[in-house]
Amino acid sequence: MRVLECLSSLPEKFTGWPDRAVPVEQWAAPIISDVTGFTSPTVATLLNHACRHLLPGEYHVEIGSLHGASLICALHANDVHAIAVDNFSQFGATSSRLLDNLRKYGLIDLKPYGLIDRVGVVKTHSADFWHCANDHLRSRKIGLLFYDGDHSTAETLSSLEAAIPYLSDEALIVVDDLNWEVVERAVNLFVDQHAKQAKAKFRFYTPDRVNQYPIWWNGLAIIVWRR
Ligand SMILES: C[S@@+](CC[C@H](N)C(=O)[O-])C[C@H]1O[C@@H](n2cnc3c(N)ncnc32)[C@H](O)[C@@H]1O
Repeated sequence: MRVLECLSSLPEKFTGWPDRAVPVEQWAAPIISDVTGFTSPTVATLLNHACRHLLPGEYHVEIGSLHGASLICALHANDVHAIAVDNFSQFGATSSRLLDNLRKYGLIDLKPYGLIDRVGVVKTHSADFWHCANDHLRSRKIGLLFYDGDHSTAETLSSLEAAIPYLSDEALIVVDDLNWEVVERAVNLFVDQHAKQAKAKFRFYTPDRVNQYPIWWNGLAIIVWRR
């Protein structure tokens, strides 16, 4: 991933950067509302901008896709491939609803047109995904990892650790729900344990750490990974 270029141009995508960051372009809100997403247009625009800076062949991996809002927004008008991992354990998530949404937005079922599906859906616990990640990545690397799955400290940290062998030499790790101390602790432990390679470049919180806030949703961390 072209990390430097991505981060230096990121503020241009918003007015009021960073605390009142509202996307200049308004395409994300209708998608989030259509698929009943647990994210905000600001977070969605950030993920979309990051995907635009993936190198050819790099993957966007999302842990915790629910109905697909953050994923569909990340891929909007971007020619990149992604893997969605979810065990469909929360918020009424079902694989059929996610697949229906991905189909609706033209991200799967492309074979009749001679194209490869843009998203692979892996229905499993995040820990099990990391055990067989190479089967899905087929030796390609992850340029962008968005972690929005189980938000306990242990599960968050263990997914970030398990991702390391699959990360590109330069990658971004975006962790949702930084407002929550359990998540914040996992981010702190990860960057402390990998002080040479991992830098928490941005930490966004919502006012008074109020959740589902229209700007940074439940808070967000952006970790720059450089091997
Ligand atoms: C907050 S929702 C994700 C919201 C989504 N990113 C969006 O844009 O709407 C969290 C998702 O993580 C999934 N999840 C929770 N624990 C998980 C685990 N251990 N492994 C895989 N998925 C998990 C849940 O089923 C749920 O769909």
